[in-house]
Amino acid sequence: METNRLSSKIEKILNQQITKEADAAQIYLSYGAWADDQGFAGVANFLFRHSQEERDHMNKVMSYIMERGGRVKISAIEAPSSDPKNLQDCFERIFQHEVDNTNAIYEIVSLAQEEKDWATWNFGQWFVKEQIEEETLVLDLIDKLKIAGGPKATSESLYFFDSQLAQKEDEADLARDASAERP
Ligand code: FEO
Repeated sequence: METNRLSSKIEKILNQQITKEADAAQIYLSYGAWADDQGFAGVANFLFRHSQEERDHMNKVMSYIMERGGRVKISAIEAPSSDPKNLQDCFERIFQHEVDNTNAIYEIVSLAQEEKDWATWNFGQWFVKEQIEEETLVLDLIDKLKIAGGPKATSESLYFFDSQLAQKEDEADLARDASAERP
């Protein structure tokens, strides 16, 4: 009796998403380590927390595959790319990662729709909403950095930016809890 409720294509694309989320977690870890080394403790803490959020996303996809009787396959992830040049570059790269991830989520939802796999389509909607929140969050930080002067920002304005991110702790924590709790 066939107990796997996922098609082979859906199972494959969901397993690819596990790797993408793990990859994002690794990238945020690496940027967090870079930020800490540059003296931006608030940014580092924010990125470490965000890395954990990506791990939560990874676990969420894993759980879904298993719930549907599919087979989880863990793949290798690549080493993160070079360190950012500055904070502006750091958050612009993060924004690009999030946009790439949004496109990957759209691929899942599109395939689910094509196959009339409404369970996976419905599962994917949580990520569609999450990606809007993540892109908005990063865009907001890029805007703040632009106001601070972008790549030419003074030490004082970057210190202020970093302090503000340090105070964002609870917000990031709540977002992470929410991603673990939301269906
Ligand atoms: Fe898992 Fe930043 O999206």
